[in-house]
Amino acid sequence: MEYNESEFLIETEVPYDEVITSRTDLKGNITYANEIFCEISGYSLEELLGKPHNIVRHPDMPKSVYKELWDTIKSGNQWIGVVKNLRKDKGHYWVKAIVSGVYKDGELVEYKSLRTPIEYDEKLEHQKLYDKMRKENGEKTRRVIYE
Ligand SMILES: Cc1cc2nc3c(=O)[nH]c(=O)nc-3n(C[C@H](O)[C@H](O)[C@H](O)COP(=O)(O)O)c2cc1C
Repeated sequence: MEYNESEFLIETEVPYDEVITSRTDLKGNITYANEIFCEISGYSLEELLGKPHNIVRHPDMPKSVYKELWDTIKSGNQWIGVVKNLRKDKGHYWVKAIVSGVYKDGELVEYKSLRTPIEYDEKLEHQKLYDKMRKENGEKTRRVIYE
């Protein structure tokens, strides 16, 4: 994927008084997203419904983070982690996500995610951590020159 770097580096601030929510089927296809999810990601609900949730995957995120997420939720546990997501316009936004199962009459029917904002220090810490993880795992790395 090619990015115009100036667009790619633009961060969208996630509001503190809202929760960004989405749900997926058991394969990770989006079945619901709330209004604030659409606003922050830059997609309309129609564009999101039925699409794999990796539609908002940012290339800075190491593969292993999502492997851990899926291993955790498939084993019936709740996964909490810091995620950098890609907007439709190639900007990004950082969130803390809580992903878990949705149960109906005791049966797992969907997965859901609730996302809240994080502080600057936590973003910086995770950017460095994820850069390191991608490098160690031989995944694509991106050089950004901070002035
Ligand atoms: C409920 C739920 C919410 C998810 N939310 C995100 C998300 O916000 N961003 C993201 O990149 N992946 C999210 N994922 C993980 C994706 O399904 C996917 O595993 C990830 O984007 C990596 O893509 P890949 O599996 O194609 O490598 C979510 C999964 C579930 C079940």
